[in-house]
Amino acid sequence: MKMSKTVLSLIQPTGDLHLGNYFGAIKNWVTLQDSYRCFFGVADYHTMTMPYSPASLKANTWEMAFRLVACGVKPESIFIQSLIPEHTELCWILSSVCSYGELTRMTQFKDKSIQTKDQSSDAFVSAGLLYYPVLQAADILIYHADYVPIGKDQEQHLELSRNIAARFNSIFNLDYFQFPESLHTEVPKVLSLADPEKKMSKSLGEKHYINLFGDAEKIRKQVRSAVTDSGPSVDGGMSPGVQNLFTLLKALGKTEIYNFFEEEWRQGAIQYGAFKNVVADAIIELTDKSNKQLKAIKEDAPHYTNLIYESSASIRNIARQTLQDIREITGLTTQKWPS
Ligand code: TRP
Repeated sequence: MKMSKTVLSLIQPTGDLHLGNYFGAIKNWVTLQDSYRCFFGVADYHTMTMPYSPASLKANTWEMAFRLVACGVKPESIFIQSLIPEHTELCWILSSVCSYGELTRMTQFKDKSIQTKDQSSDAFVSAGLLYYPVLQAADILIYHADYVPIGKDQEQHLELSRNIAARFNSIFNLDYFQFPESLHTEVPKVLSLADPEKKMSKSLGEKHYINLFGDAEKIRKQVRSAVTDSGPSVDGGMSPGVQNLFTLLKALGKTEIYNFFEEEWRQGAIQYGAFKNVVADAIIELTDKSNKQLKAIKEDAPHYTNLIYESSASIRNIARQTLQDIREITGLTTQKWPS
């Protein structure tokens, strides 16, 4: 395959990376690097749209960048969003071709603003939260990305990015922006072990996710207390909790063990204690490897920090070029100084 198509995605530096993030997104990013020109960003500007701690934002941003490297994302694909302030400049420009109504209709805006209001009566819903998807559109359009690997929950934002691109093209009467498409690779759906009706997620709380860089003993405990069932359900199917553990085994590449326990399950002879032990072993094998990699990166932190500064600078050159075009198209004054 030609290396010409561009793939772009960003992740917020909001703490832990869990198995749902890893199998649902990051592992896929690593594979995509073989076939596409890839840009993967740490979305620190986006994190500012909700209450956050300035004291930890910078550390969390680098931590996320290092964790991505530990997962196998190449440093040269990685950038830190706020090191490329053109993203926010483009966000401002695009906000004029995006309607207030479109933004207030975004599900994530509605959910997050309600969530904020639920937490306190005099809640502060920032305008940044409303602008969040315009910044996301800028992230994508600034690199003329062809494909954006995202989860279903971000589909609406990508649709908005296409609408913004189309409106820009039509207002300025040219075909400047192309329309980014989502990239849905078949990825396993990892659920919370404590409540297997829900997706594994950080927002549900600590016991609902397994940290990819977590402590082995804690992980073993979490798996041991995973919700299963007391036998096959009435319709003879697997309960969501048991299914989830099987999903993890498969995602972890343990086919033989998977087949063995699936057969046991079919015969109604499965011992959940033993089953959970092997699932925990398989997860810990991955988390140990991830932790080792992260440790090695941190021991060489200045080197990796430099690499990511360099890649951010070279990715910024692409963003600058786009902004030059955009300033010209939209009639903003030409910048005469070297920017
Ligand atoms: N909103 C995305 C999320 O929370 C993160 C994100 C920011 C993103 N900018 C993006 C994803 C651009 C894809 C493309 O998951």
